[in-house]
Amino acid sequence: MHLIFMGPPGAGKGTQAQLLSALWKIPHISTGDILRACVVAKTDLGQKAQSYMDRGELVPDELLMDIVQERMNQSDARAGWILDGFPRTVAQAAFFDKLLCEVGGGVSSSGKDCDLRAVNLDVPDNILVARLLSRGRQDDNEETIRRRLQVYREQTEPLIEFYRNREQLVAVDGDRAMESVTAQLQQALSGDS
Ligand code: AP5
Repeated sequence: MHLIFMGPPGAGKGTQAQLLSALWKIPHISTGDILRACVVAKTDLGQKAQSYMDRGELVPDELLMDIVQERMNQSDARAGWILDGFPRTVAQAAFFDKLLCEVGGGVSSSGKDCDLRAVNLDVPDNILVARLLSRGRQDDNEETIRRRLQVYREQTEPLIEFYRNREQLVAVDGDRAMESVTAQLQQALSGDS
């Protein structure tokens, strides 16, 4: 099982990825979580990334490439993975294609035998804003949330078309109770397990 979870901030990518990762025993790889851990640990990368994250901007592509490559090379990623929050730009998607050719562990990025699926969780903006304001992470203030949504529309949403054209897109209604979203995902993806 090789899954990319897409969707705007607050769509439930992390929530659903965590549940399905436990169920399917494959790692949940969240670039947001990795970056937040680097910020807490005050690593070089964390110090570079923090101001972008606080403003709701994407961290520059070149800072993401190494951490994704390193994580994908770890042994637990051989069995499959759920990538949450990556790729997020067309440049990241192109890099990821190349990476899969090199370390894909049998996964190619496209083609008839490829089991890669890109899941898009769709949720209306007013619900996203309400969810994030009630969560209250450091970047969950109204101004940053609006900017994160705008950045999502401009830079990440085009990837929906990219994966739809490859017939790898799985669209799921994220505006339902959590258990119902999990059930939809299990149903949509069960043919791949
Ligand atoms: P990241 O951590 O990826 O944040 P995000 O995309 O903004 O997503 P969120 O974590 O806010 O939302 P989610 O969809 O995971 O929802 P969740 O399950 O948490 O990225 C943060 C920052 O890091 C970026 O802004 C950027 O700066 C940087 N970054 C990360 N990756 C990058 C990349 N590839 N390139 C460049 N920069 C990168 O749920 C949200 C809330 O809603 C929770 O409280 C949850 O309990 C609740 N909830 C979930 N589902 C439901 C439901 N069905 N009903 C009701 N409530 C629900």
